[in-house]
Amino acid sequence: MEQRTLGRDLKVSALGLGCMGFSHAYGAPTDRTEAIRLIQQAADMGYTFFDTAEVYGTADAPHHNEELVGTALKSCRDQVVIATKFGIRFDMANLAVNKPMIPDSRPQVIRASVEASLKRLGTDHIDLYYQHRADPNVPVEEVAGVMADLIREGKITHWGLSEANEDTIRRAHAICPVTAIQNRCSMMARWYESLFPALEELNIGFVAFSPLANGFLSAKHGKDARFETGTDYRSVMPQFTPEGVERNRELLELLHRLAEEKEATPAQISLAWMLCKKPYIVPIPGTRKLERMRENAAAADISLTASEVQALDNELNNMEMSQVFGGTKIVK
Ligand SMILES: NC(=O)c1ccc[n+]([C@@H]2O[C@H](COP(=O)([O-])OP(=O)(O)OC[C@H]3O[C@@H](n4cnc5c(N)ncnc54)[C@H](OP(=O)(O)O)[C@@H]3O)[C@@H](O)[C@H]2O)c1
Repeated sequence: MEQRTLGRDLKVSALGLGCMGFSHAYGAPTDRTEAIRLIQQAADMGYTFFDTAEVYGTADAPHHNEELVGTALKSCRDQVVIATKFGIRFDMANLAVNKPMIPDSRPQVIRASVEASLKRLGTDHIDLYYQHRADPNVPVEEVAGVMADLIREGKITHWGLSEANEDTIRRAHAICPVTAIQNRCSMMARWYESLFPALEELNIGFVAFSPLANGFLSAKHGKDARFETGTDYRSVMPQFTPEGVERNRELLELLHRLAEEKEATPAQISLAWMLCKKPYIVPIPGTRKLERMRENAAAADISLTASEVQALDNELNNMEMSQVFGGTKIVK
């Protein structure tokens, strides 16, 4: 797969693999042996960038995902980039399927997190360590200071911020250079495109999470789609409701039309659109199916010219769409 560079020097495959769904948010976790095999198969087919977080898991196994990723990538650890995240926990007493997040980036909490993540991942360093969400009680400068210490100690090599705004990025970067942000980005969630000038000025990469709008942009889910109510976040996402699907009809038609023109699939068009927009965007679609990993990886081979991307943007700007899931509530 094509390689891209995040920040100054972090080389990754043009698409990374979002590993969250093996353990969290998309129904019951995948069978452990199967998940490990799939992650290894992704590495074999050219994915070199794997995304996890300390909180991807279930009530019974709250850190399930890091352990899976570490086990799966043990034999090729030196050839891959592992990204994980610190700084939130879920409010497990809450009954919602998508439990509210409680931010906590106190330095002592980060210190404990990094040690535990290293252990679960079975590695002596994390390649990219993101603050999962800003902590209103801890200035980002203090977090950046801890990151600088962890880099000096060799426990992490690069760091980043998730769902960060421009002010936070600039303040963080001034203390310890930020390699990448990881923010929501898809044809239905374009609000962070306003960060492009700042990212270019500071040479910071953009890792795009939920690049398929949680699978909606694959155009595989119709009005009759049903998801597990207790474990699958899609059961409460506005884009998947029958009304949402109806309001997104024009978008789905556009994806089907372009897919036909480019001899591609709607998912590939959605990914190629952002890959062709900026060379520093790296989408990390999540899938638990081998064929879809291949399909998504092949999006890197689809080229859209700058004017095709612009024309697509114009269509997206002027089209009716439903709301899209914007993230789990944060406890202030
Ligand atoms: N920083 C953050 O706060 C944050 C938040 C959310 C996610 N993330 C990261 O971003 C990654 C991706 O985000 P996401 O999983 O929320 O959303 P996504 O990648 O937009 O969508 C994932 C969904 O799309 C389906 N899918 C993937 N490829 C497909 C294809 N080619 N055709 C049809 N369906 C396809 C998957 O189903 P199957 O598994 O059944 O294929 C899954 O249900 C996560 O794994 C996680 O690592 C980070």
